[in-house]
Amino acid sequence: MYAVEMNHLSKIYTGGKTAVADMSLMLEQGEVFGFLGPNGAGKTTTVKVLNGMLQSSEGKCMVFGEDPAREPEKVHAVSGVMTEHAQMYNHLTGLQNLIFYGAMFGIGEEESRKRARELLKQLELADAAGQKLSAYSTGMRQRLSIARALMHRPKILFLDEPTSGLDPESAYNVNQMILALAKEQGMTVFLCTHQLRYAQEICTRYGLIDEGKLLTVGTLEELRDGVSSGMSVQIRADRVPDALEDALRKRAVSDRCRNTEQTAGIREFTFEAASEEEIPHIVSQIVESGGKVYHVSASRPSLEDIYFALTAERRQQ
Ligand SMILES: Nc1ncnc2c1ncn2[C@@H]1O[C@H](COP(=O)(O)OP(=O)(O)OP(=O)(O)O)[C@@H](O)[C@H]1O
Ligand SMILES: [Mg+2]
Repeated sequence: MYAVEMNHLSKIYTGGKTAVADMSLMLEQGEVFGFLGPNGAGKTTTVKVLNGMLQSSEGKCMVFGEDPAREPEKVHAVSGVMTEHAQMYNHLTGLQNLIFYGAMFGIGEEESRKRARELLKQLELADAAGQKLSAYSTGMRQRLSIARALMHRPKILFLDEPTSGLDPESAYNVNQMILALAKEQGMTVFLCTHQLRYAQEICTRYGLIDEGKLLTVGTLEELRDGVSSGMSVQIRADRVPDALEDALRKRAVSDRCRNTEQTAGIREFTFEAASEEEIPHIVSQIVESGGKVYHVSASRPSLEDIYFALTAERRQQ
């Protein structure tokens, strides 16, 4: 059984806006899936349809074999959702909020209290357990809503921008927690985010969406194979032969890493190489013509590089 199954899913809002367009996607159990895309791409809408918070306009979807359009309560039993504006109660404390949601899921008070304390500790909110939500900062609220989504030990966790309001340390901790939930408890995670560096650290597979359409799906390696370059190489050197300099300039990676002239005749080039084998060849050409090489580094495209390459490609279409 798939954790998530979408078959030609579409959502058109009243008023005519197509937020999700003919989306088909399967998620295996235990995947940490990064759902990426610019503002307004349709990420939150997709999460809401998958959780029965919105009705789809066309197509079908299932979450652990349950249909959110027909039996949303069955989906709620297996799914934890943290959306952008989670509804919680300002006049209740953090602990009371969690116990309240525990009760909604049919968890007894004693067990709810125990579970809530455990989650508050994991999310570094133990000291704020007795504080009213109205006194919580944005980051504290965000962490509390993650705790809320985990109260009933869901099989799948939907996280919509879980780290956007968090400071770097809290964001790191939340990411480590997501990773641990997936690795140790086999939880499936559906993560909507713009924070590509964090996504690259924890996701096992990605989907890129724009204007409601799924542009590409795959692991980082698969996505890398889909963009033009094998490798991005950076060289800093002086006295580079003219012909080589011209050739490297033509292969500049992108406008974001243009070749830059440095002081005292030292130049920096960032260019695309087809393979690692090319690097020593280029270095020896510089050295043999009397030049000095100060720095050489090579890296494969990051998730961010791929995201920019694919969205730029789309804008040009
Ligand atoms: N209730 C609504 N009624 C009409 N249009 C809506 C509604 N909610 C969202 N939309 C539109 O649907 C599109 C997709 O919105 P959605 O919130 O799903 O995007 P998103 O990918 O989550 O964006 P963000 O990264 O900004 O959170 C947008 O064009 C948005 O304006
Ligand atoms: Mg959103």
